[in-house]
Amino acid sequence: MYSITAVILALAVGGHAISPRESNSLGESLGIKPDSMISYDGIYFGWAPNYSPQVTLADLNEATGQKGATYNVYSQITQDNVDSNSYDGNDQYNVDDIISSGAVLIASLMPTVDWTDITEELCNSVADYFKTTFTSKNVTVWLRYAHEMNYYADPSVDTYPGGRDYSAFLTTWKSMHAATHPNPLIHMFWSPNENTTSEPVAPWWPGEDYVDIVGMDYYPDASDLPDFATAYGDFYDTYAKGYSLPFAIAETGTQLGSGAATVAQKQQWLKSIINPAAGLGDYDEFYVSCTWFEYGPPTNEVDFYIVYGQTEAVVEETISNTESGV
Ligand SMILES: *[C@@H]1O[C@H](CO)[C@@H](O)[C@H](O)[C@H]1NC(C)=O
Ligand SMILES: *[C@@H]1O[C@H](CO)[C@@H](O)[C@H](O)[C@H]1NC(C)=O
Repeated sequence: MYSITAVILALAVGGHAISPRESNSLGESLGIKPDSMISYDGIYFGWAPNYSPQVTLADLNEATGQKGATYNVYSQITQDNVDSNSYDGNDQYNVDDIISSGAVLIASLMPTVDWTDITEELCNSVADYFKTTFTSKNVTVWLRYAHEMNYYADPSVDTYPGGRDYSAFLTTWKSMHAATHPNPLIHMFWSPNENTTSEPVAPWWPGEDYVDIVGMDYYPDASDLPDFATAYGDFYDTYAKGYSLPFAIAETGTQLGSGAATVAQKQQWLKSIINPAAGLGDYDEFYVSCTWFEYGPPTNEVDFYIVYGQTEAVVEETISNTESGV
């Protein structure tokens, strides 16, 4: 169904070179509100607001004068959830801010327990939580279950203690899909980390029947910033174009070595991914949205901010990539 929408979209805009898109109907079909922040290339833009210091989406929207399209929240499935075989959000969601923002909730739900602990019953409880708390209030949820699994399941990282047991992971993915699929406002978002030889994404691919949105997390080094094609092209061609699935960047930023990038470097990366000078070319067919990792110390060692705590001039440069940001 997505491919049909995309074809209509492609015909409607008549190609990027002629006129930039002012809307993105594929993104809207996935619950993004049309009055959200959108780049000149038709890419909806949103935020992963920091939780310490606590930044709300209302704060960021006030600073930009626009409505963030997406709202990423990190949360965990814990041993307590496993022991009780139930999930209630663990107080990790700023529910009122999420609902009032009108943004799509990108729920980055991290299984910090064994794959085999993610039972069908627990998945049903996850589906119930998102239904009761969010979709019943008309908030669309992109369930980014076990994001960056190729990285977090690395035994030396060990955030996902289930490790590289691909088939056990895929079983949990399918259980989560089965539990949430009946709810039309929940979309399963497959979002590994950057594809590398040591941590390839392919073994973690659940199959097109179980995935609604694809994306890849990537934080290039600011001293050598790639263009969109170099950064995401292979992934996009394989999983978005290859299966006619929507593509979204669920988190990104740039850093310099292990420190913060300069403002100019952050702005260059932002522009490359949502509003490049030469346009996005064929990549705009399935590309719906980009979410910026608006984090800094103490939660994250590195300062990625492009709005929070920034000068008016920096905020203006950030939003100059977007339709109403002139
Ligand atoms: C629910 O969200 C959809 C999609 O964004 C929107 O079109 C619709 O107007 C909303 N309905 C209500 C009752 O808010
Ligand atoms: C992932 O990387 C491997 C090499 O490590 C390469 O063969 C493969 O084409 C890449 N796949 C994608 C989707 O980028």
